[in-house]
Amino acid sequence: MAKLSIDDLDLQGKRVLIRVDFNVPLKEDEDGDKVVGDDSRVRAALPTIRAVLEAQGKAILMSHLGRPKGEPDPAFSLAPVAQHLESLLDARVRFASNTVGEAVESTVRSMPQASVLLLENTRFESGERENDPAFARRLATLADVYVNDAFGTAHRAHASTEGVTRFMERSAMGTLVKREIDQLSRLLEDPAKPFVAVLGGAKVSDKIGVIENLLPRVDHLLIGGAMSYTFLKALGHNVGQSRIEEPKLEQAKALYEKADGKIVLPSDHVAAEAFDNEASFETVSGDIPPGTMGLDIGPETVATYRDLLMKAQTIVWNGPMGVFEMSNFAKGTNAIAEAIAEATDEGAFSVVGGGDSVAAIVEAGFEDRISHVSTGGGAMLEFLEGKELPGIAALCDA
Ligand code: 3PG
Repeated sequence: MAKLSIDDLDLQGKRVLIRVDFNVPLKEDEDGDKVVGDDSRVRAALPTIRAVLEAQGKAILMSHLGRPKGEPDPAFSLAPVAQHLESLLDARVRFASNTVGEAVESTVRSMPQASVLLLENTRFESGERENDPAFARRLATLADVYVNDAFGTAHRAHASTEGVTRFMERSAMGTLVKREIDQLSRLLEDPAKPFVAVLGGAKVSDKIGVIENLLPRVDHLLIGGAMSYTFLKALGHNVGQSRIEEPKLEQAKALYEKADGKIVLPSDHVAAEAFDNEASFETVSGDIPPGTMGLDIGPETVATYRDLLMKAQTIVWNGPMGVFEMSNFAKGTNAIAEAIAEATDEGAFSVVGGGDSVAAIVEAGFEDRISHVSTGGGAMLEFLEGKELPGIAALCDA
C-alpha cells in the first residue's frame, strides 16, 4: 500500500516532528571534543528539514544514537550532531537536553517559525524501545504532523518510529524514506535483467532471508566474506581455520542446492596464518590449507565476479568480501566496489547498502557512480527479505 509522503502534506507554519536516523559514528577532534565521523545520514536528512523550513514550519527532530540502556548516558548524547547539523544548514539548531517534558514543550512553543530543534537521544527513555504508548503520546503532543525520514531505523517498532503515529492525525514518509522505498522497490519489482546480487559479511544467518527472497529474482548471487566459508564447508571443501557457522551448514547446503547454479562461491582465497593484518598470507585456489584462514576473495574470484557484474543491468550489493578494515584483506571488497561503479557507468542500475560496502564506495570516491547508496543496513536487508518495515507500515496510506 502506497504511503502518504511529505509532498502530500500542508506544512505551512506547522510544527513537524521528524524522526531522523542520526545514529552516526562519533570521533574525537584534536581538542578532544566529540564530532561526527561519517555524516552521510545527516546530509541525507537535509531535504526534508529544508522543506519544513521553506514552509515556515518548526522542524522538531528526534533520533537515537547507539544503544544506551534506556537512561541518559553522556557518551551517546546527540549534542555533537546538533552542532554538525548547524554547520550543514548554516542556521541555528536548538538542542533540547531532554527528549520529552515541560522544558521541551516550552522550547517548541518559543522557537520561531522556520527554525530547527533537535531532541536528545530517544533511547535515553526506556519507553522508546518498549514502544510505550505514554512516551509515544508525549512525543506526539510536540507537533501537528509527523514525518518519518529514518529509513535506517524503519525496521524497529519503537515509540519514535511506530508508536507515535497512533497519536498523530497525519504521518508521512520524508524525502529520504520515499527515495529509499522507490529505489529499493526496483530490485524486487520487475528488475532489468541480468540481475546480479553480491552478498558478503561474516554470517550466513544474517542473510538467509535475503537469499531466499532474492533467488527467484536474480540471475546470479555472488557470495563473499566469511559467509562463503560456511557454504564451502557445507559442500565438502576444506576451509582450514576459516570462520564458519557450524549450526548453519545444513541450511547453507540446502540453499545452494535450491539455487540451481545461481549461487556463485569464491574459487580462490587470500589465506592468512592469523586474523591480523600483519600475519603472513598467500593466495590459494580451491581448498584453504590447514592452519590458515580465508580473509578475502582471491584475484580469480574477483575476475569471475567482475565479468558477471559488467554484464548486469541490475545490481545490489551488501556486505564486504573480506576483512575490509585490514588493508591486506580489503582488495576483494575494493575491486567489487570498482566493478559496480564501472557497470553503473555502462548503464546498470545499482544499489549498495551496509556499513563496510558503503564505506568502500565512499573511500574510493565512487558515491556519484552508484545509482543509490542506501542509508539502511538492517533496514535494507529486511526490505530485501520482503518483510514489512513497522516504521513505514504505521504511516498514513496515500
Ligand atoms: C542502524 O544503524 O542500523 C540503525 O540506526 C538502527 O540501529 P539499531 O540496530 O541500534 O536499532
